[in-house]
Order: sequence, then C-alpha cells, then structure tokens
Amino acid sequence: MTDDIRKRLDPEASIPKHVAIIMDGNGRWAKKKGQPRIAGHKEGMNNVKTIATAASHLGVKVLSLYAFSTENWSRPSKEVNFLMRLPVDFFGTFMPDLIKENIKVLVTGFTDHLPDRTRKVVLKAVEDTKGNTGMILNFAFNYGGRAEIVNAAKNLALKAADGSIDPVKIDDAMFAGQLLTNQLGDLADPDLLIRTSGEERISNFMLWQLAYSEMVFDKTYWPEYSVDNLVEDIKEFDRRDRRFGSI
Ligand code: FPP
Repeated sequence: MTDDIRKRLDPEASIPKHVAIIMDGNGRWAKKKGQPRIAGHKEGMNNVKTIATAASHLGVKVLSLYAFSTENWSRPSKEVNFLMRLPVDFFGTFMPDLIKENIKVLVTGFTDHLPDRTRKVVLKAVEDTKGNTGMILNFAFNYGGRAEIVNAAKNLALKAADGSIDPVKIDDAMFAGQLLTNQLGDLADPDLLIRTSGEERISNFMLWQLAYSEMVFDKTYWPEYSVDNLVEDIKEFDRRDRRFGSI
C-alpha cells in the first residue's frame, strides 16, 4: 500500500508534516442513513484507522484528530457516554494495527477530567506505543483551544509570581512551551487543517497552533471521508503558496 498510495501524489509534492482534522458530520451522516447519532460516531471511529494508516503511508509525521472538545460535554449524556467509550473500543480493536504501522499514540487534552476508564485506556495506548518511531497519531480529547491558552497564561503567571521566570522575557517560544502541544516539539503547529462536512469554522481547535496553517474545508461527512479525499486535500495543500507573513 505504501508505494501505491504515495504514487498518487507527484514525487515532488510537498507533503504536510502535521495534518490536523476536525472530524465533523458524524451526526448528519447517521441521520442521512436513518440511524441514531451514535452510529455515526461508531462509523467515524472505524474511519480513524483507515485515514491514519493512509496518512502514515503518505509520509505525514503527525496526524491530530479532534475527537472530543471541552464543549462537547454539553451534549446529551447518552452521546457523551458513548463518545467516552470510543477510545476503549478503538484501542481494544485497532492496537495491533497501530503497532504494525509503527504508529505512536499521543493525547492532547485535559485528561485529568476524563472518566477513569477512558483516561486509563488512553494513557495505556500512549504507554504501549511510546517506543514506536513512525507517525504520531495525536488525539485531541477533552481539548479546547481557549482553555489551553488560559492554562498556559496561568502557568506563566504562577512562575512569574514565584520568581522562576522574568515576565519581561515571555515570548512566543516560552508561551508555546506551556501549551498542551509542547510534547510535539517543532511539529506542534499543523501545516494543514482539514474540516469535513462542509462547515467552515475552527470551533476552538488549536487556536494558537493554526496561526499559519493552510485550511481545506471538505464537504464529505467524516464517516465517508476516504483515502481519495485525503489525497485530494493534500494535493490542494501542495498547490498553496505558503508565505508565513512574508512576500
Ligand atoms: C463531530 O460530529 C464529531 C464528534 C464530536 C466526535 C468525533 C469522534 C470520532 C470521529 C471518533 C473518534 C475516535 C476515537 C478513537 C476517540 P458531529 O456529531 O458534530 O456531527 P454533526 O455536526 O453532523 O451533528
């Protein structure tokens, strides 16, 4: 598969090192099929394996997936409970595939506030794949961009108050060092953000990190988002001219 899928892109194509995806449209996909919303989340979960494998074969270094936001707690409890169980299903089913693909799992989010079972299974997946050297599959789970920035500001204020940093010296790098994505090092900022389902907004995802990301809004609902869609969206990225504020 590696060669096959890579051949679909120009050999000179620029592959985004960090791809972030807002996996939207599970509920609408389910409605279209006359099924309950949770059926859409289940199908969406299965699609994570397909797209993560393809991204890894295309040479993507980090794939960040927005799986649960700090605002998603306001959904009906039946849906929240189902979403909290998804990592249990996902890692229970796909861990052998992740190991085979040499994929390293990370989680970016406020894991302390997750139900015990969810937190344990997510942290175990991180632990079990920590020696893998391939693509990083970064789940944004109980993640919110504003909460992340407030948390960073609070950490820096506490350090300034106890004298361990000089507040005058706070700069971009020091601030980014307090963000949850600091664990991704120099790959923390996505090169490409994809949002599925046709909605065109950021929804509190990686507010700091998306400063210079290219954005592609794909009309496909996440459960139907295919390897073809991913290849097309990466081709679109390759056509963009990134200037980072310069000329
Ligand atoms: C948004 O669609 C999607 C979510 C809130 C959940 C996304 C989660 C997955 C795709 C599975 C994640 C997998 C693991 C392993 C954690 P929506 O429900 O807002 O759809 P709608 O806008 O059509 O209603």
